[in-house]
Formats: sequence, C-alpha cells, structure tokens
Amino acid sequence: MEAWVNRHVMLAVAHLMIVAKSFGVDSCPMEGFAGDQIKAAFGIPETVDVCCLLPLGYAAEPSKAYGGRFPLEQVFFSNEYGQPLQL
Ligand SMILES: Cc1cc2nc3c(=O)[nH]c(=O)nc-3n(C[C@H](O)[C@H](O)[C@H](O)COP(=O)(O)O)c2cc1C
Repeated sequence: MEAWVNRHVMLAVAHLMIVAKSFGVDSCPMEGFAGDQIKAAFGIPETVDVCCLLPLGYAAEPSKAYGGRFPLEQVFFSNEYGQPLQL
C-alpha cells in the first residue's frame, strides 16, 4: 500500500512541478526529511503519512549546470526491452 500511494503521489507531484514551472515557479522535490519534525512544524496528525515535500518558490540563482539526461534510446523501448523506439 505504501509503495502504491507513493507512486500515485509522485505522479501528482511531477505534474505540479511541470505546471509550476510553466508559471515561472521553481520547485525541489525532497524525500529525505525528518517526518516527525515536519509533522510537528506543520501540525500534521500522527495518522497522516508524509511521503514527500515540494518547496515552491523562485530560485535566487541557477542551482548548477545542467547535468544532462540519459539518451532516449537508453530509456525508452518499443514492445520489448532493447528494441529501439521509432519516433
Ligand atoms: C523524488 C526526488 C526526491 C529528492 N529528494 C531530495 C532530498 O531529500 N534532498 C535533496 O537535497 N534533494 C533531493 N532531490 C533532488 C532535488 O529535488 C533536485 O531535484 C536536485 O537538487 C536537482 O536535480 P536535477 O539535477 O535533476 O535538476 C530529490 C529529487 C527527486 C526527484
């Protein structure tokens, strides 16, 4: 259940990040945080689980040089693993 919920929440978070950027708002997903302290700081009940934080705002400066992404042919396949995706 926890994995299922996390996947669904992260889909929503990803969409929120894209829409935020379309409005010029920067974001930074975080999964590494002290859950108990977050709950205390924001008055979140014990029964509620926090799976991710998404600070939104305006970056003061570019965080770092673009690190790049894996090439499409390395991460997308057609029908079978290893089969190139024809676009
Ligand atoms: C799912 C997810 C969780 C992340 N959790 C953290 C985190 O806990 N702490 C942190 O400093 N950065 C975290 N990051 C990285 C930053 O949010 C940010 O993406 C990174 O600094 C720059 O990423 P980029 O090189 O992909 O642009 C996380 C990224 C992702 C995608």
